[in-house]
Parts: sequence; structure tokens; C-alpha cells
Amino acid sequence: MNQNQSLQEVIRFISAKLNISEVEVAPFIEFPPEKSMGEYAFPCFILAKKLKTSPQKIAESLAEGFFPTEFLKEVKVVGGYLNFFVQRENYIKDILSSVLKEGGAFGKSDEGKGKMVVIDYSSPNIAKPFSIGHLRSTIIGQALANLFRSASYKVVGINHIGDWGTQFGKQIVALKKFGSVEDLKNAKDPIVYLFDLYVKFHKEAEKNPSLEDEAREMFAKTERGDKEATELRDLLVDYSLKAFNKTYKRLGIEFTHTRGESYYADKVEPAFKKIEKLTEVRESEGALVIDLDSYGLTPLLLKKRDGTTLYATRDLTALFDRFEEFNFNQMLYVVGQEQTLHFNQLFSALEKMKIQWVNRCHHIPFGMIRFKDKKMSTREGNVIFLEQVLDEAKKRAKDAIEKKNPELKDKDEVAEAVGTGAVIFNDLSQRMIKDVIFDWDQMLNFEGDTGPYLQYTCARISSIIKKSGSNIKEIDWSRIQDDESFQIVRALEQIPIAISNATKAYEPSILCSALLFVASAFNTFYHKHRVIQEDKNVESARLALLKAVLYSLKNGLQILNIKAPEEM
Ligand code: ARG
Repeated sequence: MNQNQSLQEVIRFISAKLNISEVEVAPFIEFPPEKSMGEYAFPCFILAKKLKTSPQKIAESLAEGFFPTEFLKEVKVVGGYLNFFVQRENYIKDILSSVLKEGGAFGKSDEGKGKMVVIDYSSPNIAKPFSIGHLRSTIIGQALANLFRSASYKVVGINHIGDWGTQFGKQIVALKKFGSVEDLKNAKDPIVYLFDLYVKFHKEAEKNPSLEDEAREMFAKTERGDKEATELRDLLVDYSLKAFNKTYKRLGIEFTHTRGESYYADKVEPAFKKIEKLTEVRESEGALVIDLDSYGLTPLLLKKRDGTTLYATRDLTALFDRFEEFNFNQMLYVVGQEQTLHFNQLFSALEKMKIQWVNRCHHIPFGMIRFKDKKMSTREGNVIFLEQVLDEAKKRAKDAIEKKNPELKDKDEVAEAVGTGAVIFNDLSQRMIKDVIFDWDQMLNFEGDTGPYLQYTCARISSIIKKSGSNIKEIDWSRIQDDESFQIVRALEQIPIAISNATKAYEPSILCSALLFVASAFNTFYHKHRVIQEDKNVESARLALLKAVLYSLKNGLQILNIKAPEEM
């Protein structure tokens, strides 16, 4: 972690006095929100048991050994805590000058140097609609990939597209019966066109179950390599991928690998043989399964009676293949919580096979999106047309801009950035496991805890800097000792810590909160103080402060995959 000098002194002091390593002390340091509690606090109760004395006594004896330093002014014992108060001027100077020096690299670290993370995210199904789960997986997965990259991990991002399975049979039958290749080619939105066919297929199949048999036969044909069937399948894959890629481009999503399930088609049999060697595969009513009773789970189904493979079989195959190719330190599956059982089964099966590296694999689950606007949720519940959501977000952002800043150039481009920014931030800003409420007014509010609020703060700062002519001279740090500036610096101090914690906890929301904290500290400051003014020394110091805020917000937004327009 990049620690500033004041924090380092606190850690060093405690470590030396109590004879515990600095690495052990560091995670326990707290940052009290109340000014009267100082800037750092050490909770002594964590040592009470070990030292066989009360937290109060530990704090007192620590306090007795304290002498003021360049960065720490005094300590106070409060309850079982030892609270540290910084030398304000040195603290401000230390943190701001390092933010300004690091600039675009502020918040980055080399914590993950030499380590490899594979992230499986987005992973929609072809010839089936892009679901809300896929939207969340896409946004969260990309943010995690960016977080890990900012900590110098090597990241492989895989889009594990569902391009294998019986749905192809259904889709091809539906295309032939209820639609045509011609119509697909001319469709305004091929995904919607294919979805309508999909819905129609299911409606018709209820009345006429033989359709399901036809679909199965059609899928079997694609597996056998039948010319017409495979050509149609490839066409569906093609159209779906084109549509997905358009959306990915809008959201700034980039994978290092797009590997559908079919990529593993010829690897399934060898993987299956390997599995049979490592653990018992049992026959059950003609199907092949791995028993998982000892893990309290239902058996993992590997092959159906007709010999076809399943989602789980292909996932196991993919996992072996990925470990062999990437030798990962971590393998993350960003997939909705409704697949928790699937991943538990997968990992338990690996454990049963005595595969050591199973502890590097993690399912990163998340909650659902719920729409406040009923209109969005009418089509078959969970279904979402991403393109339409983004269009609506853009339209609403444009209306807001039209009101706020009708003179703005590049309105369209800014509206796109603000609309997508709102959708992304809304998704990332609370703990992942919670359901997300999709409420247009709330998420596009320029004053609320939103993406547009952060973007607007950046634009506001950019415009002040521009207006000033940006001449920061020699900076006299003593000119920004007021409480509001100090609060900004305290918020900035949290940014690298938040990035590190967000990465470790797989929780982008930790970074979101830290960014909101910086923006709100800035806005409080801005309401009270003038930046551009007569006293050029004050102006310079304040501009330096603003620049530091801008770096931190921009870098943070970049990690979240949100653009920061210069003007809005
Ligand atoms: N395509 C799957 C679905 O839509 C998600 C795949 C997630 N990744 C994986 N390796 N299982 O349900």
C-alpha cells in the first residue's frame, strides 16, 4: 500500500513500542470521522488479551512514550483507543505533493506484481437475450479487471459466451418456422428479432410439444456437423456477437479473450477422461454423475443419458484448460448469485479430485436489478435490452444537459458519457450482493451520490483550472490550512487505501464511496472559498489542491470505466 508519511509514522511508532511487525499493525489503523478524535486511531483492545491488560492501560502506556515529530503533533487516549493528531501543514504538503507527482498514476500500486488473475465475466448466451445478470456481470467484471490492473496484476478477461447447447436447436427451428434469414439480415435490432422468435418458440411449444423434439434433433445436427444446421448456427453466433460488441464498445468493455463454450468442444472428452481418473464417476439412470453428498450437495451431472455434455462439464473443461494455459493465482467467476449452487458443485468436485489450486477459484456473486419504472420490466421479467437502456439513459442525460448548459458543444458525446456513467455507477456503488434499484431520476441526479455528480465535479474543476490559466507557481502550503482544505486532503488519503481494499474484497463499491467522499469534500470547500482571486499565493495553493482532486476523481472513474468529460 502506498502510505503517506504521517500514517507511516503512526505505524512505525506502534510497531516499535509494542514489538509487533508493521505489516501486522497497518490493517488495524482507523481513520476517525470526527475531528476531535484526530486523524488516526489505534484500537488497543485487539491486544488486551495477548498483553493481559486493559485496552485503556495499553493506550496510556503507548501515550507516555510519544514525542511530537515532523508529522505527528500529539496523541490522546480516548477509551481504549490511542488517537493521533497530525501536524497539519506537513501532512497536507506530504499528501498533496505526492498526488501531484504521481498524477495519472495516483492510486496505482504494485501489490499484484508477478501475479495473474483470470476473470470470467459478461458471458451472455447467444440466441438467447442478454439478461440483467449479464449486464451486471459485464459492468462489475470490467471494474474488477481494471482494479486488478491498477494494482499491477496481469489480468486475463474471458467472455465465456454461451454458444453451445439446446437453445440453438430451438432458435434454428424458430427461425425456419416463424421467421427467415432474410428478415434477420434486415432486422433493425437482430437481438430483439431473435428474442421475439425465442418467445414465440416457447409459446408454440406449449401447444405443440413435438417442437421440442424437432429442436433437440436440430441441435444434434449441429453437433454432428450437418451443413445447413451449422451454417445457421454460425449465422446466429455472428449476429449476436455483432450486437454484443456494439454494446461493449459503448460501455468501454474489453476482453482479452472471447471464448465461447464451443471453444472447449474438442477438449471435453480428454477432460472427462482425466476426471474419471481422479475421482469416481457413477452411472445414475443412464447419466454420469459425481457424488457430492460429503459436501452436502446434490450430484454434479457430467453427461446426460444421450451422451451430450452439460454446462458444468464445459465449465470443468474450461477450468482445466485455463489453469494449464495461464497458471493463475486467482480465477474469478463474476456470475449472479442464482448460480451459487453450480459453482459450489464445481469447486467441491475439484476438491474431491484433490486438486490443490481449487482454493484460487472464487465465485463472485451479485444481486438482481429491480426496476422502479414498471415499463422496463414488462417483457418477460428478467429480460433486458441493453441497447435500449443505454439509449434511454443517453436521452435523459441529454435533457438534463439541455437544461443545465444549453450552449455546450459536443452535447451528444457528453450525453452518452453521462448516460452510461449513470448506469455504471448505479450498478457499482453499493455492495454487490445487494439488489440494485433502477430509478432513472435517482441515478441521473447531478447532486446525488451518482456517476453524473462525480463527472460534474470533474468538469467544474476543469473549468476553474482552465479559467485560472493554470499557473501554479511555487506552492506555499501554509495558505491552505483551513478545515475544508484539510478535509479534502483527508479524503484524498483514502483513495489508494480504497483501491487496495476494493481489489482485495472484490468490491468496487469501496472505491465508489471514497470518490464520493472526495467530491463532497471538494464541493463543501468550493461553496466556502474562492479559488481565483487577488492573492496569487492562495490561488496557486488552491489550484494545486484542485488538481489533486481532479487526478483522484479521474483515475477512480477510469477504474470504474466511466468517462469524465471536460465540460458538461
Ligand atoms: N452463459 C452463462 C449464463 O448466462 C454464464 C456463464 C458464466 N461463466 C461460466 N464460466 N459459467 O448463465
